[in-house]
This record gives sequence, structure tokens and C-alpha cells, in this order.
Amino acid sequence: MAKAVEAKNGSKVEMGEAYYCPECKRTHTKGKIYKDHFKYAQLEETGEEMNEDAYDDETELMEAFNELEEKENILEDEENIDKIEPQIDQGIDNDEEDDEISKNNCVNAVKKLPGVGEATLNKLIKAGFNSLESIAYTPPSIIKEESGLGDKTTEKLIKASMEQLGIGFKSADAIWEHRKNIARVTTGSQELDDVLGGGVETGSVIEFFGEFRTGKTQIMHQLCVNVQLPKEKGGLEARALYIDTEGTFRPERIIQMSEGLDLDYKNVLKNIVFGRAYNSDHQILLIKEATNIIKEKNIKLIVIDSLIGHFRSEYIGRGTLASRQQTINTHLHDLLRLCDIYPDLSVVVTNQVSAKPDVFYGNPLTATGGNIVAHGSTIRVYLRKGKGEQRIAKVVDAPHLPEAEAVFSITENGISD
Ligand code: GTP
Ligand code: MG
Repeated sequence: MAKAVEAKNGSKVEMGEAYYCPECKRTHTKGKIYKDHFKYAQLEETGEEMNEDAYDDETELMEAFNELEEKENILEDEENIDKIEPQIDQGIDNDEEDDEISKNNCVNAVKKLPGVGEATLNKLIKAGFNSLESIAYTPPSIIKEESGLGDKTTEKLIKASMEQLGIGFKSADAIWEHRKNIARVTTGSQELDDVLGGGVETGSVIEFFGEFRTGKTQIMHQLCVNVQLPKEKGGLEARALYIDTEGTFRPERIIQMSEGLDLDYKNVLKNIVFGRAYNSDHQILLIKEATNIIKEKNIKLIVIDSLIGHFRSEYIGRGTLASRQQTINTHLHDLLRLCDIYPDLSVVVTNQVSAKPDVFYGNPLTATGGNIVAHGSTIRVYLRKGKGEQRIAKVVDAPHLPEAEAVFSITENGISD
């Protein structure tokens, strides 16, 4: 519908001023005769003929027109509120400018390290070492290989970064203080959260493993939605990064899960950074690239669904086992390092199970990837099917949690009790 009072070179028209209305291709006078325009406007809105006789005089007609105009303004305001509110609701800072500022802050800290000139800085940034943390926690050999810097420079940079970050021995008391305040993301099921010590914790690599259709992918989807929730609702007010190796990411499920939580799905989808890994090398590369955007994009959850799939299909035969395990090991260390660099980041991976032929008693199903993955992940959760929508999760390996089981359900709206 046309807006009668604007359109004089885009500025507001004062009372008594004339202006050309592009909608009805006529010149109007603000505060005078709006009759023609009103007719046009009302026709557009109702699709009906306007009954001019219904208005006794011009004043009444003017009033009716102003009312219409006010309604239009309100509608426009409401539209704008809709656009802003869900973001505030989720507490996520969607502002690209802020992303840029936080990136610049990190880079500035690197720039201030002793001996870092323009050339060194460029090499570091190009290789993804754009924060003190990324330099301090990465082994020298990797920094050297990826940035092309020399032995001495690398050593000096690591030392200086460590000093600035205050990395060294700490008292157990300080560690306890840190662990007490560790942030967690709710899984959507109270029971599952409880056995995990209050949800999926940050600063750790958590592995969900189990047979097909046990809900691994569903949990990954749910966590990507839940991480965006406000803190009091079990989220981290942050974005998620989803690395899909199997092509099973479904935005439709994200929409259903968002609706189940009364969230605006458009924003929820926008806050999931998605990467499809086409092979194991690509998967490794995506994680290396992720280092660059975690802080900048406020990512606090990284999902890899699934961790081992590509490795398993690419490295075939016993002869390749050693090199496969070595590559997986390096990949896992990349993930663990991310948790060191970003203590408020949670890395969650899925893993398939394979039948272990030499087990005669107990459960013969073991997670693929062998001991390498078992030692690489901080918390391991074994999933199996229950009745109907029910699934059973068992924490099998966690440094601080007892072995406990939880029953949860996969419903249309996602994971619940
Ligand atoms: P693989 O990737 O094959 O190893 O399995 P997975 O463990 O990743 O299984 P996934 O998480 O994809 O779970 C699939 C199961 O989730 C289905 O068998 C359904 O039981 C359940 N599921 C998926 N979508 C819906 C839904 O919209 N409603 C309900 N009630 N259940 C669903
Ligand atoms: Mg799956």
C-alpha cells in the first residue's frame, strides 16, 4: 500500500506542502485533499469499492485516512520488531561488525608479539594462527609446516604467547574453580543431561557411538539448536559448526526442533555454520579452517557426524591400519587442541560401531577407530535402541562421571525425556 506522506525526495512532507505521489500518479497536498489517494489505498487493501458517501465531509475523510496511515506505521514497526526480537531472545550476536571486531582483537594481540612484523603476521594469519591461543597450544612442528616460519621464530612466538596467556603450572584449586563454572549445553532430555553431569560440557570432546538409527544424528541436530538458547534455558547463546561427513544433515529437522522450543527457525538455521566433508582429507582441512572462525563467529559447538566414516572407507585392508590410526590420531588432537584454545567450546562427534569378533561375553559391539578414538575423546556415550521412540544412553568412559544409563526419546520436536 502507498505511503501518502512520504515520497518527497525521500524526506518527510510537512503539512501544506505539495508532493507527487508515484502510487496514484497525482500531486497531493499534505493536510488537504487526500480523497483520491485514500480511495486508491483502501481499494488496494480491501479489494472493495470505497463508499465515498459514508464520509460526511472532508475532515472525516482525512481522519479515516490518518487512521489508515497509523495502522500502516504500526504494522511496519511490528515487522521490524519481529526481525530483531528473536536475535535478542537467543542472545546471539549476529552482528557481522562485532565478528570483525573480535577477529581484529585477536589479530592485534598476535601483531604485538615481539618480533612480529608485517611479513610474519601475514604468514601466521594465512596459516590460521590468528590468536595467541592458536599459537600457544599448537605444536611447533605444525606451526612451522603450515606457516613456513623458521625454527627460532616459531619457538619465540610460542613462548611469548604462552607468557601472555599465563600458561604454566596451576594449583588444583584453580582447576577446580574452572571446572565448577564449566558451561554445558542441554541435550533436551533431563535424564541424559543428568548422566552427563548437567549436559554436554565445554572444553571437551564428547563421543556418541552406537548402531544405526540409535539417534546419534538426531542428538547432533538438537545440540546445534540448543547451543543457541539463552544460558538460563541450557544454551550458550552461541552458534554451532556442523561438519557432515555422511550427507545426513537435515534443515527440516532443525526447523521442527526450533518450533518445539518456540524459536524462530530462520535465525536458528542462520546460526548453524555448515560444512560438508567429502573425504577424510577434506574433513581434516575443515577443522583446521574452523580455527579461524570460532572466535569471530561466536561458535561454541562443533559437531562432526561422523568422525570415522571417511577414514573407514578410504583406508581398506590391514596394511593401511597403522597409517589410518596415525591420521585419525592427528585429527583427534586437532580437535582436542581446539578445546584447549577455546575452553568454552564443546566438540561433539559421532561414531559407528562394529562387531568385534573376539568378544564372546558381554556386548560385542565396539566403537570404530579403536583405542585411538577412545583415548582421544574425553567423554564417551554408548547409545542403543529401546522400545519405539525410546533410546538408552550409557556413559561408558568419563574421567569424572560414574557409568550410568539414561532413557530418552526421539520425537518430532527432537530429543526429550
Ligand atoms: P546412523 O547415522 O545410520 O548410524 O544412525 P543415527 O544413530 O545417526 O540415527 P539418527 O540419529 O538418524 O536416528 C534416526 C531415528 O530417529 C529414526 O529411526 C527415527 O526413529 C528417529 N527420528 C528421526 N526423525 C524423526 C521424527 O521426525 N520424529 C520421530 N518421532 N522420530 C524421528
Ligand atoms: Mg547418523
